[in-house]
Amino acid sequence: MLERIKKILREGGVAAFPTETVYGLGAYAWNPDAVRRVFELKGRPADNPLIVHLASARMAADFVPEIPEDARTLMTAFWPGPLTLILPKKPEVLDLVTAGLDTVALRWPAHPLAQELIATCGPLVAPSANKSGRPSPTRPEHVREDFGEDFPVLEAGETQIGLESTVLDLSREPYTILRPGYIGREQIEKALGKEVRLADSEEGEETDGEIPGRVGQTDADAPARSPGTKYSHYAPSARVRWMEEGEEPGRDNTLYLIHAETAAERPNVASYESDYERMARELYDRFRQADREGYAQVALRPFTADLRRSKPVAEALHNRISKAIG
Ligand code: TXA
Ligand code: MG
Repeated sequence: MLERIKKILREGGVAAFPTETVYGLGAYAWNPDAVRRVFELKGRPADNPLIVHLASARMAADFVPEIPEDARTLMTAFWPGPLTLILPKKPEVLDLVTAGLDTVALRWPAHPLAQELIATCGPLVAPSANKSGRPSPTRPEHVREDFGEDFPVLEAGETQIGLESTVLDLSREPYTILRPGYIGREQIEKALGKEVRLADSEEGEETDGEIPGRVGQTDADAPARSPGTKYSHYAPSARVRWMEEGEEPGRDNTLYLIHAETAAERPNVASYESDYERMARELYDRFRQADREGYAQVALRPFTADLRRSKPVAEALHNRISKAIG
């Protein structure tokens, strides 16, 4: 399987592969036809840039004119791992990849199979391997649900983290987390010794150029300062909603995902008992389950500000669920 996937990528094709976050839809980053095919397959708007996946920090040199000290600090602290860095790009980086922006997104994934593919096939663009607007794939079956039974997928079971990487914009100050993830703001601030802001948080203003919550638009990912954040996305067809205060899971056609306590055991109720890592790993599969099993709604308890501050993964869950709600 590995050899077949390598061959596809080396010949300018597109194939899905595992990372520690979610499965990616890979194509060689210097091949315009291959990159175009990624946009076509996903049904992704051309104005939403892709992340270039590397297999060493050294590989970054082909994409950026210099690696600023802060970037180097973060690469040393968190690479390989679920942190994507946005930096000013070299002019030769394909406009298709960056959607015409003057910056490029770089990440060195931790998954050994991703590393092996990139080491032999070169840097790969890899958006999440889902159709635009669908939840990101955390299992090979999810990729096949979206792209068909015969689509080439390098299989490695369930991904470890289950939510996409933290995206941090280092191209201007103050540095901004455009997409929260497993690596949290505090960890980044500690490594840098400076403050970092979180786009869309209560304390920060709106990011520029952004159209918040365009309901009905289905793409997952679209640009502006924080490209992936302007549309409703990561969503199942079932309606996703926050539970009311005091609301208990009912016996209705709703899938309840309860994060903190142990709720009644029923087929339509999942209790996470404060295991936020497990909830992150399962969230997108639950969204897909809701559709497979014909649930009308997915209902979740809100996350308090305290919880989000103290647990990066709770911040990331809150962010993806809010996007799915639209
Ligand atoms: O965990 C991940 O990052 C996964 C795995 C496969 O690596 N990939 C992923 O890619 O989530 P994608 O394309 O689904 O999301 C990339 C996000 C989008 O929100 C995109 O708008 C943003 O990164 N992005 C890419 N390049 C950017 C840039 N130059 N400036 C700002 N945002 C950028
Ligand atoms: Mg995506």
